[in-house]
Amino acid sequence: MRKKIVAGNWKMNNDLSETQDLISGIKSITKNSDAQIIIAPPYTNLYSAFQALKGSEIEVAAQNMHQSENGAFTGEISAKMLKSIGVNTVILGHSERRAYCGEDEVLLTEKVNTALENDMKIIFCFGEELKDRNYNEHFEVVNKQISNTLFHLEKGAWSNIILAYEPVWAIGTGETATPDQAQEMHEFIRKIIREEYDETTADDLTILYGGSVKPGNAKEIFSNPDVDGGLIGGASLNADDFMAIVNAI
Ligand code: 13P
Repeated sequence: MRKKIVAGNWKMNNDLSETQDLISGIKSITKNSDAQIIIAPPYTNLYSAFQALKGSEIEVAAQNMHQSENGAFTGEISAKMLKSIGVNTVILGHSERRAYCGEDEVLLTEKVNTALENDMKIIFCFGEELKDRNYNEHFEVVNKQISNTLFHLEKGAWSNIILAYEPVWAIGTGETATPDQAQEMHEFIRKIIREEYDETTADDLTILYGGSVKPGNAKEIFSNPDVDGGLIGGASLNADDFMAIVNAI
């Protein structure tokens, strides 16, 4: 039985005191869904977030990590550093890092391998651009993004992978995939995993939707059989909105 997850990607938002305030807000709101909550604050606040959430069921994830174990990589953060502060999950492949930091499939494959070698869980993001959808190439694009970066993995590695379908045209735009568009793509993703691996791997895989999920549209999106939760950007910066989304599952 696959896990339901709602993860908040804070991106480059919230300083230390804002992080503490937002976590207090999230903790003060009753959770009445069986979704696992994950929050991904910026690097500087990961340790304080982890401390503030000790004893709660909420997990902390990093938004990125370097592909090397250590070395002369000014400004970078390794898997070991994250694990040493209690962070066992990392977001990889976000479209903003692909677009602004030049992260390509070769680099992402290395990052995936390093994360798994360090026993980390990965929230792996991918999604088509508007032009791909307009040319009706969105399934092909998503297929390539997943297969080129993840299909070298052994079946067993998939228990540490969470997929996040985030159509680029829906991120931060207020425009969201319709529930039918989300379901259709998630069903397709599960199908290609089933074909490459097997029924159990596909069935056990959590596939999140991301892109302008808000309290007002979350229920409809999450009600699809192949949508197992969300990766939330803007709306995860407000405790009431974020918890309303968590409770929409
Ligand atoms: P928004 O929810 O702000 O559209 O961002 C989605 C996202 O990029 C999550 O990783």
